[in-house]
Amino acid sequence: MEFEYKVVWIIGASSGIGAGLAKAFAAQNARLILSSRDYAALIALEQQLKGHTACTVLTADMTDHAGLAQVVEQAISVYGHIDIVIHSAGIGQRSLAIDTQLSVYNRLMEVNFLGPLALTQYLLPHFKRQGHGHVVAISSMSGLMGFPMRSGYVASKHALKGYFETLQVEHTLDNFYVTIVSPGRIKTALSLSALTGDGIAYGKMDKGQLHGIPVDECTDKILKAISRKKKHVIIARSERLLYWLRILIPPAYYRIARKRGLDGN
Ligand SMILES: NC(=O)c1ccc[n+]([C@@H]2O[C@H](COP(=O)([O-])OP(=O)(O)OC[C@H]3O[C@@H](n4cnc5c(N)ncnc54)[C@H](OP(=O)(O)O)[C@@H]3O)[C@@H](O)[C@H]2O)c1
Repeated sequence: MEFEYKVVWIIGASSGIGAGLAKAFAAQNARLILSSRDYAALIALEQQLKGHTACTVLTADMTDHAGLAQVVEQAISVYGHIDIVIHSAGIGQRSLAIDTQLSVYNRLMEVNFLGPLALTQYLLPHFKRQGHGHVVAISSMSGLMGFPMRSGYVASKHALKGYFETLQVEHTLDNFYVTIVSPGRIKTALSLSALTGDGIAYGKMDKGQLHGIPVDECTDKILKAISRKKKHVIIARSERLLYWLRILIPPAYYRIARKRGLDGN
């Protein structure tokens, strides 16, 4: 088993893609650290996985950027080192730009971009000392193109991709890998907690989310990409076509993205 005994730290492990990744790595006998804000949900997952593999809960809030320095020290001390860190924490958005308060943009940037950036910055010296490390950033197709009702989310994912792509290009550390994952819609609760214009949770599963790619199909592809040390992987259905339209036939992209986004697809 490729990931046996590897120490894998998953941020955003309490639900969705992060929880799915925890199960997939547990099946490979990796040693896990599960993080997010929801202690009870993390403990429930830990109980589920403990029979299979070593597993520890460490709460972390991606908006507490200064506090993440201490969280990184705690994470390293659990098993003595970290092999792979996965940034799966994130919040969505469902509001037109014109209706969105600045505080919502701040929150999206804090959770989706500045949190993963801060945590990675604190972790890089550890990867340098031990001579290896792998960061996996769960970005989005929204990190590759604009989409209605998600102006702040799209901006945060573009920023996330920009930061991690730059780490790939700088390549200052030996045996250091960054895998950027750009999923299309995956069937998780992301739209339930997505922020509306005044910062209140959207509270609904929208059509696109409901008919999205199953989590286990997505996590299988992420594990393969990590194993192959891929720099970038797209996990999507029709969003992949939209992405190519944007490059090859831009007017079609603008028309279809506008219609689909405003129809809530
Ligand atoms: N589902 C999709 O269609 C889709 C598509 C493209 C990209 N993505 C990306 O995939 C990642 C995972 O999303 P998901 O679909 O699995 O949604 P999800 O089920 O809602 O999971 C989001 C995770 O983020 C954590 N989180 C939110 N705010 C946090 C904070 N301040 N500090 C720490 N953790 C926080 C949540 O945990 P707590 O509430 O316990 O803190 C939860 O574990 C996100 O980055 C999302 O943008 C999802």
